[in-house]
Amino acid sequence: MTLPESKQSFLYVACQHGAAAGLKTAMCEPNGPFRLAYSARGFLTLKSHLSVPQWSRALPEHPLIRSRGVVLGKVEGTESGQMLSQVLELTKQLDWQVCHVWQRDMAEPGWNGFEPGGTPLAWLVAQQFQNALKASGDSASRPIVANRPAFESDQPPVDPLPVDPTPVDPKLQRILEIIIDEPNRWWIANKTAQQSYDYWPGGVPEFPIPDVVLSRAYLKIAEAFAWANLQIQPGEKIVEIGSSPGGACQWLLDQGAIVTGIDPAEMDERILKHSNFTHWQSRSLQLKRKLFRPFRILVCDANVAPKYTLDTVENIVLYPTINLRALVLTIKLPEWETTAWIPEYIERVRSWGYADVQARQLAHNRREVCVVAKNKLAMVPQA
Ligand SMILES: C[S@@+](CC[C@H](N)C(=O)[O-])C[C@H]1O[C@@H](n2cnc3c(N)ncnc32)[C@H](O)[C@@H]1O
Repeated sequence: MTLPESKQSFLYVACQHGAAAGLKTAMCEPNGPFRLAYSARGFLTLKSHLSVPQWSRALPEHPLIRSRGVVLGKVEGTESGQMLSQVLELTKQLDWQVCHVWQRDMAEPGWNGFEPGGTPLAWLVAQQFQNALKASGDSASRPIVANRPAFESDQPPVDPLPVDPTPVDPKLQRILEIIIDEPNRWWIANKTAQQSYDYWPGGVPEFPIPDVVLSRAYLKIAEAFAWANLQIQPGEKIVEIGSSPGGACQWLLDQGAIVTGIDPAEMDERILKHSNFTHWQSRSLQLKRKLFRPFRILVCDANVAPKYTLDTVENIVLYPTINLRALVLTIKLPEWETTAWIPEYIERVRSWGYADVQARQLAHNRREVCVVAKNKLAMVPQA
């Protein structure tokens, strides 16, 4: 067990595999507070000369950060029982309310079917930690949470099922984390939850996924709405630019929305058959802007350059009598270096009259970020 040197704070940040280099550059500026201490694909620890109180709310923020926290220590070993004893020792003075167990990503999202989220190992360690706590005489019965792993159909689930999968009360803010970096190397961290994603193990939300999902965009849109705490009103009219083959429309229709998809490419016939779906088979710029008047939410997932996406959406949003209460935009990052432009993208969207604009690389995003704009202010007409 390794305890960090006293008077120094160690923080961890987790992200997508490919984002680690860009995040390292952004976090470890020459005169900034952080120095890189440890780096693996999608997981960094940072040393700070500033001491961070145990339940500090001053956690690092960056659109590429998926999860972050204060490092308590590292445990290493070849046998989980012995590693769990080290975890108990390291956390015996810690007043935590809920424990998250999760594993660093093993690949890029979408690579060979990989998606971030629960793994059999994290699921098993959660169960073993629960047992170790009981055996140690801990009577607090605090929730131990791991995302449910996506098992292959011919692979039996870990038996018995370890943890209670019911959603954890958001009032449980003091979170202990067991982060599986390698099977024989775990990081133990803690944090006070502040953002929606802090309540999800490793910053990855869990939501029901139907047997048939028409594209990965289903996962992206479900995650975007959960992260941004954006609700859909029954019968609300939503338009998606770049809608083929239809994963995002599938999720929106499942939520009870009335959906129009704009794409020159074909939609999946199962979406076309849905009574609440309309396809405008066209590029968005070829459509008259007044056609967008009925919609309250605009989603854009077109595979085009960021400037094209922003020009297209601005052209619609600023047209008189259009009243979009929220925007959910996928902004492609042609190179990882273009992450540096995200603050400008946010400013531009804010200038359209949205009070709340945020960007995040979602767990299910590839080399792209999601920008969500909410709370449209009434625009004062120019004199
Ligand atoms: C990543 S795919 C969209 C996936 C889709 N959101 C889903 O849920 O399955 C990108 C799509 O953007 C479309 N696209 C590109 N430029 C466009 C434009 N100017 N207007 C509308 N669609 C566009 C492409 O035809 C392509 O189908």
